[in-house]
Amino acid sequence: MSAPIRTIAITVDEQPVRVPEGVTLLEALRSLGIDTPTLCFLETLTPVNVCRVCVVEVEGSRALVPSCSRRAEEGMVVLTDSGRVRHARKLVLELLGSSVDLSRAGPELARWMERYEADPSRFGPPAPAAAAGVRDAAHAGHHHAPDEAVAANVSQPVKIDNELYVRDYARCILCYKCVEACGEDAQNTFAIAVAGRGFDARISTEFAVPLTDSACVYCGNCIGVCPTGALVPKREHDMRESGAWDAAKQTVTRTVCTYCGVGCNLELHVQEDTIVKVTSPMDHDVTNGHLCIKGRFGFEFVQVREKGERGE
Ligand code: SF4
Ligand code: SF4
Ligand code: FES
Repeated sequence: MSAPIRTIAITVDEQPVRVPEGVTLLEALRSLGIDTPTLCFLETLTPVNVCRVCVVEVEGSRALVPSCSRRAEEGMVVLTDSGRVRHARKLVLELLGSSVDLSRAGPELARWMERYEADPSRFGPPAPAAAAGVRDAAHAGHHHAPDEAVAANVSQPVKIDNELYVRDYARCILCYKCVEACGEDAQNTFAIAVAGRGFDARISTEFAVPLTDSACVYCGNCIGVCPTGALVPKREHDMRESGAWDAAKQTVTRTVCTYCGVGCNLELHVQEDTIVKVTSPMDHDVTNGHLCIKGRFGFEFVQVREKGERGE
């Protein structure tokens, strides 16, 4: 028989509740049905506390605390919807919305934007996009006074340097999830990291070399965790560019990868009888959403064989 779970008493939005000992505030809030925005948090990754959109007010704490990483403690008094909390979340969303292309970040983000009445346009029209390589060449500590008439942003051309996936850093919110998935939390390859400081901070390979010259092994685990569409398979990128990508026409079928005996689960995204993308379910205990290059990208042969059988 498993040991009984110890609980602790906390107060959330003036309601006394008991939650399991050791849970984070985010886990406690979710168990209470309180919708809490998160951007850099993912159940399968170590919390890094960088986006600050999940902050709550804790009595006795001078600064707002990130709920995704702060553990609930006996007697804590937590406010999740105070003026300070709403203001902080609104500002985070506005700063991100004014500087990053969030158009593929999904419906949840749009819902939070609406809830907190975030208005990214109040910072002015977007500054012109940087030319290819300019942001990669920025040196820490060499900042120029910003043009206050326009909103600074990370717009830049898409990086396409291999046949498997593209990096569209105009959509990058610097959540660090890709760095964690490439590093200790999954792949242990460390092909990418954060370079630069302040507004010049960016995700980069070593010395900003193309992926083909980096340590990347093309597992695509960074794609799997990216919340904004900054990292996408090249096939998806190409289909979106040509207008052929149609998520409404796609079905998702779960199966088991046949390349080896590990037993990774695959989700085959199929559009018009063609596999257009492979992902992996987050809730599967073998892979937790992660795959290797073969499982994620090695599906073309299925379609080649089918065409052959049809005599095409
Ligand atoms: S594809 Fe894999 S190895 Fe390459 S950068 Fe992404 S996580 Fe790292
Ligand atoms: S590329 Fe995606 S996963 Fe990586 S930091 Fe940017 S938004 Fe996050
Ligand atoms: S989700 Fe908590 S700091 Fe980003």
